[in-house]
Amino acid sequence: MPGISSMVPAVIVFGDSTVDPGNNNQISTVLKSNFAPYGRDYYGGQPTGRFSNGRIATDFISEAFGIKPVIPAYLDPKYDIRDFATGVSFASAGTGYDNVTSDVLSVIPFWKEMEYYKEYQSQLREYLGNDKANQLLSESLYLLSIGTNDFLENYYTFPTRSSQFPVDKYEDFLIGIASNFVRKLYNLGARKIAITGLPPMGCLPLERTKNIMHGNACIEEYNDVAKEFNVKLQSTVDGLNRELGGIRIVMSNPYDKLLELIQKPSLFGFEDAATACCGTGYFEMSYLCDRLNPFTCSNADKYIFWDSFHPTQKTNFIMADHVVKTTLAVFR
Ligand SMILES: *[C@@H]1O[C@H](CO)[C@@H](O)[C@H](O)[C@H]1NC(C)=O
Repeated sequence: MPGISSMVPAVIVFGDSTVDPGNNNQISTVLKSNFAPYGRDYYGGQPTGRFSNGRIATDFISEAFGIKPVIPAYLDPKYDIRDFATGVSFASAGTGYDNVTSDVLSVIPFWKEMEYYKEYQSQLREYLGNDKANQLLSESLYLLSIGTNDFLENYYTFPTRSSQFPVDKYEDFLIGIASNFVRKLYNLGARKIAITGLPPMGCLPLERTKNIMHGNACIEEYNDVAKEFNVKLQSTVDGLNRELGGIRIVMSNPYDKLLELIQKPSLFGFEDAATACCGTGYFEMSYLCDRLNPFTCSNADKYIFWDSFHPTQKTNFIMADHVVKTTLAVFR
């Protein structure tokens, strides 16, 4: 089997739209992207359910580890355990650490991703036998990328959580869920884990669009929350490394690199950092970003963002390349 003898035989992914290769295609939610112009720069110009014009960061990470160029969605009926043995994603666009977040758009809750993972483990044991499966599960790299939706789609949009928690306590609540998730993964055999912090989420085009009062600048309040969250997540990760014997967990922090792209777009060949390629670039995503929208740009490589919430393939590549050479280098 390809990749099985390398240091990392498979990349196993949990999280939200940043790393969902099409699980949402199989569930009943309005948050989908399996139609044009999504995927127009993917292999064969195919829309897959990835929220981008092409591949997403986890695809590039898998490729950089010499495994395979794309990671399939667990719920996609075109694939089975033979494919998933070298990498699989349980991620669902629109989800968050918090159960309330996944309820907003009826997507897969984070805890359910873990249930799917357990099902995957049984399939893998049946396919490879116990010993080989256990070895694969402990040598695989687990990537978690989630959290932005808890703030943007949930906390700052609906009163449920914001009336219960001041924002710093909500950060702690989410971090508690993150560390329990890691402990569970560890107890199930995972040993190599990378957990992604929050991006400068106040700079997503959709958020900027709301910031009319300040000339569509980044919303600093949201960026500050992301920075604060990342500091807490880093210290939680340090604690988990001490607590759990034999684990190696790292935090990959996308904040500085993405902000650098946004502040100095021309250094990376981008021409637009504030609006997205799809539609008017201000608010379109999912069904609003469709082939009938006459404003969609012709060259997505000139844009940091593909739709109002998600990066272009080019940004995904830059971010993945950065994390592979920095945080993930310990696993290669
Ligand atoms: C989320 O929901 C699941 C399933 O009902 C439950 O087991 C879990 O405890 C909930 N998580 C939190 C943090 O409330």
